[in-house]
Amino acid sequence: MFNFLHLNRKPIPTFEVLGTDMHCHLVPGVDDGANNVEKSLACMRSLAALGFKQLYITPHFQYPRYDNNEEEIQARYAELKRQAEQAGIPLTLRGVAGEYRIDDKFAARVEGNRFLRISDKYVLVELSLHQPRMGVAEAIYSLQEKGCEVILAHPERYPYMSLNSQLFEQLKNQDVYFQVNILSLTGFYGDRAKWMGYNLIKRGWVEFLGSDTHNEIYIQAMVQASHDRKLRKLLDKCEFMNGKL
Ligand SMILES: [Fe+2]
Repeated sequence: MFNFLHLNRKPIPTFEVLGTDMHCHLVPGVDDGANNVEKSLACMRSLAALGFKQLYITPHFQYPRYDNNEEEIQARYAELKRQAEQAGIPLTLRGVAGEYRIDDKFAARVEGNRFLRISDKYVLVELSLHQPRMGVAEAIYSLQEKGCEVILAHPERYPYMSLNSQLFEQLKNQDVYFQVNILSLTGFYGDRAKWMGYNLIKRGWVEFLGSDTHNEIYIQAMVQASHDRKLRKLLDKCEFMNGKL
């Protein structure tokens, strides 16, 4: 996790070069993210102080743990957006999408094709953080056949996948975009995720970075990250696609 000695540091706008954060859990009370509006708005203020200008919110759709449906998420998001505007949060809420787990319900979701998308076209998907699953490339392909672009969330965080895994290779051949978590690059999820994150970027396989903010703990870690020299250098020299969303 992060170094508690530096908690008094102030946020600096390191991430303005990205512009848009496209992965966070700030629709209150629908997943393991912010559990009320006040906390959600506080996280948004901090993301703005860290340099982000625009935000997509991506609650979990994961069966049966977070069995969310699109209509309810959209209604809750609309209310949150109203409150954010009323509170003068200096961040443009661009929309609500989902972080869709490739799970037992995924094939039915593809069939129904009601995915909430980033920028009307990108579907953010994630895999189990614990165990491999058969048929991932095929499941993603079936989604692409419906006309969606697919972004794989935090490929660096799947402990059962090595840098040279055939699945990574397959997904890149299939034009799947990769999104690394900013906090992986500072060691928040451990040394392995940090190493993987940097090495996936080095291969040229990473198109997006996201904060994956859930709550204040992530924000404190993001403030730390805003001072991280290696990360700031990376942001200076690499071009990510966040600004195109
Ligand atoms: Fe997430």
